Amino acid sequence: MANKKLHKAKTGKNDEFYTQFSDIQNEVNAYIEYNPDVFKDKVILLPCDDPEWSNFTKFFAQNFEKFKLKKLISTSYAYDSKHVAEPYQLSLFESESPQFDKKKTKSNGKIFTLDRDLNKSGKIDINDLEWKYLEGDGDFNSKEVIKLRDESDIIITNPPFSLFKDFMKWLNDSGKKFLIIGHQNAITYKEVFPYIKNNKMWLGKGFKGGATHFINKYYTDYATAGDHQKGMIRVSGVVWFTNIEHGRRHQPLQLMTMEDNIKYSKHKEIRGHEYVKYETFDAIDVPNTDAIPKNYKGIMGVPKSFLDSYNPDQFEILGYEREDDIIQVGIKNLPEEFLKKYRDNGGTGHITKGMKLLCFYTYDGIPKVPFSRILIKYTQDWIVNHPDDFNRR
Ligand SMILES: C[S@@+](CC[C@H](N)C(=O)[O-])C[C@H]1O[C@@H](n2cnc3c(N)ncnc32)[C@H](O)[C@@H]1O
Repeated sequence: MANKKLHKAKTGKNDEFYTQFSDIQNEVNAYIEYNPDVFKDKVILLPCDDPEWSNFTKFFAQNFEKFKLKKLISTSYAYDSKHVAEPYQLSLFESESPQFDKKKTKSNGKIFTLDRDLNKSGKIDINDLEWKYLEGDGDFNSKEVIKLRDESDIIITNPPFSLFKDFMKWLNDSGKKFLIIGHQNAITYKEVFPYIKNNKMWLGKGFKGGATHFINKYYTDYATAGDHQKGMIRVSGVVWFTNIEHGRRHQPLQLMTMEDNIKYSKHKEIRGHEYVKYETFDAIDVPNTDAIPKNYKGIMGVPKSFLDSYNPDQFEILGYEREDDIIQVGIKNLPEEFLKKYRDNGGTGHITKGMKLLCFYTYDGIPKVPFSRILIKYTQDWIVNHPDDFNRR
């Protein structure tokens, strides 16, 4: 259901999902805990924002002094460019400002800056925000916002879902530090995966249970009664993408040996059976992150959710469940015989024999094509430093 909602957001170009204050706070605290000076003397840019709606500006303005920021800049996107059906709502904040301009209010983006105690209250906070209209509509890809990007140190936002790939490219081109919200499906995008593989990007601390509610008054919330919150929409599979260090990324996964997994695992695919091997690649299939054996030196296919616990000192990432223009690890074509058995067993999906995909037979002989796998192995350093685990086999 969550994917349907996202698809609607994509096709409808309706990207007005606003982030809750508590979600921003929960994530940002993880970086502060790891490095209390992470934002010290930094210029933070919040593109795709709007302080009248968004909690990002509120959160960072409120913490301006605590985080010792140098400058906070947030830009908003013009109403006319958003293509939303809802009527324009002019805020009192804007209409009562001396710089209010009837001609620009719907067609131009705005820039809000905070870097001094404008109202001489003795502290820098949200009441010191200054604003003006941008020359253009505030598109993150416009020259003026690109200039702001290049002058900032850290970029933080929840970008529009429909433009996620463009936004990611825009970020990668910048070479800046960033913290942004996205969907876990984006992990295998060419704008994301090569960066994750090379440890130039990783997942943040994340949302509890991998899901959260966004503020959106225009959607029907399909969440079940227990999850329903008024004026909000629940989306599952949401993650933070970042290149800023945080503690969880350095905690190793605590795991059992392969032998103990086979004896005691709570997963029926594992308990009492050998780990299955792929037909098209020399690796074992590990259907759950907690079933990764702590003593297997070879390559393992693990679910994408493994990235929530990925520690680069422990594992290296090699690829995902298919070969394509971006990632080639040597997965072979699906064997014809496998494909026939797969179809005979009711296997679905657009799968042809020319495809280079991971596939395997389950312990009881059912042909399976796993749609979400990441190929990993232990780092050489980890193996060398854990002789008790690796020398016993
Ligand atoms: C997912 S919402 C998030 C808003 C806010 N950052 C938050 O999390 O509360 C994305 C915002 O980006 C705006 N937007 C859409 N296309 C944009 C573009 N090309 N450039 C800048 N902003 C854009 C949308 O209007 C929307 O307000």
